[in-house]
Amino acid sequence: MYQKPVIIGVAGGSGSGKTSVTKTINNTFKHHSIVVIEQDYYYKDQSDLPFEERLETNYDHPLAFDNDLLISHIEKLLNYEAIEKPVYDYANHTRSTKTIHVEPKDVIIIEGILVLEDERLRNLMDIKLFVDTDADIRIIRRMQRDIKDRGRSMESVISQYMNVVRPMHNQFIEPTKRYADVIIPEGGQNHVAIDLVATKIKTILEQKSFL
Ligand code: C5P
Repeated sequence: MYQKPVIIGVAGGSGSGKTSVTKTINNTFKHHSIVVIEQDYYYKDQSDLPFEERLETNYDHPLAFDNDLLISHIEKLLNYEAIEKPVYDYANHTRSTKTIHVEPKDVIIIEGILVLEDERLRNLMDIKLFVDTDADIRIIRRMQRDIKDRGRSMESVISQYMNVVRPMHNQFIEPTKRYADVIIPEGGQNHVAIDLVATKIKTILEQKSFL
C-alpha cells in the first residue's frame, strides 16, 4: 500500500501506439497493480442527439471530452476509492449504458490523444509521456483498426482523417509534446524508452511507500 497512487499520462496521436506502450508498461509491473483509464471512454454522452448529428461531432477537439468526469474519477482513485468507468460505443458515437467497475490500484495510466492538453490532468500526473509516430504509420494503423473494429468504411476514414483528424492533430495534439517528460518514438516497439520509464515508476513507488 502506498500513500498515493502513481499517475502516468500516455498521450500521442491516433494510431501512434499509445495502447501498445500502455500494455508493455502494464506487463512490466506484474507484481504491482495497474489500472488503465482511457480518455476515449470519457467522450461526452451524446445519447440525446440524433445519430446524424453525432456523426458531425468533432471527436478530435478537446471539447469533445468530459474531462470533469474523468478528473473526478482520477481523484477518487487517488483516494483509493472505486469508480464506475463509462464505456464508449464507437459504432453509435455515444456513451453506452454499461459501466465497468474499477477498483483503485497503486499505478494509474491515463491514456488518450489529448490527456496532456488539460492543465488539470497534467497537474495530476507524476510522469507524462508522448508517443511520437510518423503520420503515415498512424493513418495506416487507423485505417486497419477503424475498418476492422469500429464499423467504418475506407472512404469515411480518409475523409475524417483529412477534414478533422489531421488538422486537429496539428492544432491540439502535437503541441502537447512540449509538456511530456519523455517522448517515445516508435511506440510499443521502443523497449529502451519503456524500460527507462518502468525504472522511474519503480523509483517513485519506492519513494511513496511508507511501509
Ligand atoms: O484510439 P484512438 O486514440 O485512435 O482514439 C481517438 C480517435 O477516435 C480520435 O482521433 C477520433 O477521431 C476517433 N473517434 C471516432 N468516432 C467517435 C469517437 C472517436 O472516430 N465516435
